[in-house]
Amino acid sequence: MSFDEKLTKTLEALGAKDEASVRALFNEVWDALENEKRTLVSTPAANDADRMERAKALRDRWLSRRNGLLAQVDEHWLKPASRELKPIVGREFNQLRQLAKGLEVEELIKSVRVESGSAVVGRDLNDREGLGAGKGKGITQAVEAMSLDPTLPGNRRSLGSIHPITRVQREIEEIFITLGFWIESGPEIESVYYNFDALNIPESHPARDDWDTFYIDPQTVLRTHTSPVQIHAMKKYGAPLHILIPGKCYRRDNPDATHSPMFHQIEGMAIDQNVTFADLKGTLVFFAKRFFGDKTRTSFHPSFFPFTEPSGEVAVSCPICDGQGCRTCKQSGWIEVMGCGMVHPEVLRHGGIDPDRYSGWAFGLGVERYAMMKYGIHDIQLFYQSDLRFLEQF
Ligand code: PHE
Repeated sequence: MSFDEKLTKTLEALGAKDEASVRALFNEVWDALENEKRTLVSTPAANDADRMERAKALRDRWLSRRNGLLAQVDEHWLKPASRELKPIVGREFNQLRQLAKGLEVEELIKSVRVESGSAVVGRDLNDREGLGAGKGKGITQAVEAMSLDPTLPGNRRSLGSIHPITRVQREIEEIFITLGFWIESGPEIESVYYNFDALNIPESHPARDDWDTFYIDPQTVLRTHTSPVQIHAMKKYGAPLHILIPGKCYRRDNPDATHSPMFHQIEGMAIDQNVTFADLKGTLVFFAKRFFGDKTRTSFHPSFFPFTEPSGEVAVSCPICDGQGCRTCKQSGWIEVMGCGMVHPEVLRHGGIDPDRYSGWAFGLGVERYAMMKYGIHDIQLFYQSDLRFLEQF
């Protein structure tokens, strides 16, 4: 008995008395529906009008209100079903109705568009490969069964670019790698001991205010500078030591054009026997010329950091106006680019290095400022907003 015929009889007449047999009957209908749909979709039509006509016929056969196949399921299977079977039949019928939505003419035409593309490809493949009719059929069917067209252009993913902060960081790294430094890193979540005490900033010291930050608990902070990695590295490697430490730092600053609660630093450190301030100066002058250009002049003036003695600030002649005075250097002709100094003996001791045998220098710079100077950016916030119009320029 064909499934159409079964739809004219009640479940009782068909001998379906339990859930399994009801499901088997619905499966038959379900398969028939899918088959008929597939046939329509994959059979080439003479033209659009022809396809439309066939789509309508299929729709009416199943969905027509008065005597469509679904109406018959309702009439002969669901309505007369016994009380026990009714919920089961109801559930199966609902699922079938969901599936049957794919038979609405619009849906059918949509499916045809997708399928017919691949049908064409299937035939082309056969011709090109010169396969015999029998062999070629397998490929045609396989390609037709895929509801995608492998000849359509793919979705091109645009390649990203290197973020300006990363770019500048790498450029600075390169210069120091040439000089024999290696790259080191340390934790962004840091103990108060490493961030302050080991760097000669005791709890009572007013300098802690300069590095106010986010406390995770009374003993743990988001590091305010990359300097704590000086201590980690000294403990790990001992002396001599030549390292560059790039990384994220955090401070309790409100965001504005020149401040951000998260920013990037690069720390440099050299420890060896007989290292002097002259070594520090020579290295930084070389670096400034490499990064800002050969004409760059450098000036050192005294400053204070608890972890270096003596300490200094380094300024370079403004690379934008060549020291003439402009908006970037606030008409002064000079731009401050880093803090530096000779590593304090107490800090060497905290790192387990004997200050009577070894001496060293260190510096710390803010990567954002370098990137802003290099690219003429006047608002630090642009680095963190992930705005493609900004990022695509690099
Ligand atoms: N850690 C200092 C800061 O964040 C910079 C610095 C590093 C100064 C090393 C001297 C030596 O301001």
